Amino acid sequence: MDHKEGQYKVRDLSLAEEGRKRIEWAESRMPVLMQLREEFADEKPFEGYKIAGCLHVTKETAVLIETLRACGAEVAWSGCNPLSTQDDIAAALANNGTEIYAWHGLDTEDFYWCIERTIDTPPHLTLDDGADLIFTVHSDHEDMMDHIIGGSEETTTGVHRLRAMDNDGKLQYPVYAVNDAETKWDFDNVYGTGQSTIDGILRATSTLIAGKNFVVAGYGHCGRGVAMRAKGMGANVIITEVKATAALKATLEGMRVMTMEEAAKVGDIFVTATGMKDVIRGEHFVTMKEGAIVCNTGHYDVELNLKELAELSTDARMIRTDNREYTLENGKKIYVLADGRLVNLAAAEGHPSEVMDMSFANQFQAHLALIQAHEAGDDLPNVVMDLPVELDQEIAQVKLETMGLRIDSLTDEQVTYATDYSAGT
Ligand SMILES: NC(=O)c1ccc[n+]([C@@H]2O[C@H](COP(=O)([O-])OP(=O)(O)OC[C@H]3O[C@@H](n4cnc5c(N)ncnc54)[C@H](O)[C@@H]3O)[C@@H](O)[C@H]2O)c1
Repeated sequence: MDHKEGQYKVRDLSLAEEGRKRIEWAESRMPVLMQLREEFADEKPFEGYKIAGCLHVTKETAVLIETLRACGAEVAWSGCNPLSTQDDIAAALANNGTEIYAWHGLDTEDFYWCIERTIDTPPHLTLDDGADLIFTVHSDHEDMMDHIIGGSEETTTGVHRLRAMDNDGKLQYPVYAVNDAETKWDFDNVYGTGQSTIDGILRATSTLIAGKNFVVAGYGHCGRGVAMRAKGMGANVIITEVKATAALKATLEGMRVMTMEEAAKVGDIFVTATGMKDVIRGEHFVTMKEGAIVCNTGHYDVELNLKELAELSTDARMIRTDNREYTLENGKKIYVLADGRLVNLAAAEGHPSEVMDMSFANQFQAHLALIQAHEAGDDLPNVVMDLPVELDQEIAQVKLETMGLRIDSLTDEQVTYATDYSAGT
């Protein structure tokens, strides 16, 4: 482990050159964020502000970090999931002077140790994916509250939790729900998770998707993305849900809907994408077919109850990278990918750069809005806030332009028609 007190702790600094090349590749696919870097690099609006971040250490995150730094921010970072850190990227960031504490495969104690190091000196802003950093600050660092201007949250489960804190009046600084921006939730979660989850499954198994009974638990943003891609590859997709409207949508979009109890008996590949704990548990594992493949792309490692699977098993071994074979007492074998952690980040590289471009443009804008409000003396309330809807259109417009696409504008007559209630039909 390479460690320099107060600066970094990463697996192996010698991986920096490899990581740097991958960051450059991501930069070439993230034109919206790179445009923001260019726009604000001279002005340096983040000068004098420290941002502590807790978010998957991938090549795309590196582009975000280096954009914030290029625009003046001091940054300290940790990963938000023990298996999602890419060690070459962490090395490249450390080598380039980013304060970073992250390595692949750390344990729970180290996970929180890394978060604590990023706030050894109090930040002005926090940037989360899953809300672990915000919770750490709120529960153990009351003294920092006066120093913190605000924060942002990247993912669905984190936003749910922060809204619950907000409802209880426990949130002590304003937080932007970046996840809920249309250019994040409707793109990153759907197309990003859709493609990268299939990517993770393929890297860990090299299995044929076509013709398989492919069970997706949860038909929200992520689940729908995964289901669409699996269907496109020729799988027979089965959806399990707890929300009637989501199940109905799945049916009308050509998916089969059933309970997990039924799906467990017929599925070949299982993916959870719910944000809920214990979606697949002992009672399901015992009825699965020989050779079933099971993974999670929802929240952290909570969606598969692997403790119950271990109790039902006589043996477990790694059959290939990110793929653990469990032999059950009934003799059947079940294959769990990435130990139930996010398969798209642990077994593949996370979402494609093109889609993270928009998510991270939202992150950049959220932090810019927080410091602009602070400098203007606006007292933002200590609540979870949505980003302005106009920002979605701006980000989408730039994205379209960078893709060489143009769209129509309303004519003056059409604008009048849209707003004139006396115009009739
Ligand atoms: N892997 C990734 O990179 C990645 C990316 C974005 C979000 N996420 C995470 O994925 C999860 C889902 O996010 P989303 O944006 O799709 O949320 P969402 O709210 O749009 O969808 C979740 C769906 O799961 C359903 N659900 C809840 N409990 C269930 C259960 N027990 N069985 C079946 N269905 C159930 C809900 O009814 C809902 O339709 C969250 O934890 C989010 O943080 C992961």
